[in-house]
Amino acid sequence: MAVKTAPSILSGDFSKLGAEVLRMEKAGADMIHCDVMDGMFVPNLTFGQKTIADIKKCTRITLDVHLMIDAPERYLDKFIEAGADRLAFHIEATDFARENLTRIKVSGVKAGIAISPDTPLEKAFALLDYCNFVIVMGVYPGFGGQKYIPRTTDRIKKLAAEIKRRDLDVEIEIDGGVIGDNMKEIADAGATVMVSGNYLFGAENPSKVIEKFKAL
Ligand code: DX5
Ligand code: ZN
Repeated sequence: MAVKTAPSILSGDFSKLGAEVLRMEKAGADMIHCDVMDGMFVPNLTFGQKTIADIKKCTRITLDVHLMIDAPERYLDKFIEAGADRLAFHIEATDFARENLTRIKVSGVKAGIAISPDTPLEKAFALLDYCNFVIVMGVYPGFGGQKYIPRTTDRIKKLAAEIKRRDLDVEIEIDGGVIGDNMKEIADAGATVMVSGNYLFGAENPSKVIEKFKAL
């Protein structure tokens, strides 16, 4: 299965956000991953819906919005209006996961859940019927440039097996710690969307890295 690349703009230079997005688009990225952090669900702050709306104006590339905020139901409509093409929230952050997924889907946006490293996979299994994609965190959410947690690969395998067993059409997206040394094992485990922050933005030639992802 072809692997898609989603550069995480968190690792870009925020003083020239539009140019950074276009640089990745030109390099062959399939989508741009946008991390929204609230300083509560995660100990870091990034940006909100205004930034997404402004990015939307400068590119036609798919915007993959990853909400790392408490009670995401408060903001779903705002991010949909802002132009998210894919919208995911953390299952640890809400009591209304099903309702949220349905709300995202009916608005024509791809609906996703994100699962942190210590959350039992069964919690995601219970929601698979309502999702278009699942973001499996390879690091504890909050910061770019962290080291991949090795047991994540096994979690991806188990999730892929469950999706196959139930014959569902749900994409697996890996987020956090993806580098040249682990991209193959992650793809072999069943991830088809690779978020990449520091590895891609730090590369001398991002298009070469994106080519590598696509060839997995
Ligand atoms: C982490 C974010 C990731 C991060 C990935 O909380 O959700 O999207 O930007 O960055 P790298 O690839 O550097 O781990
Ligand atoms: Zn992310």
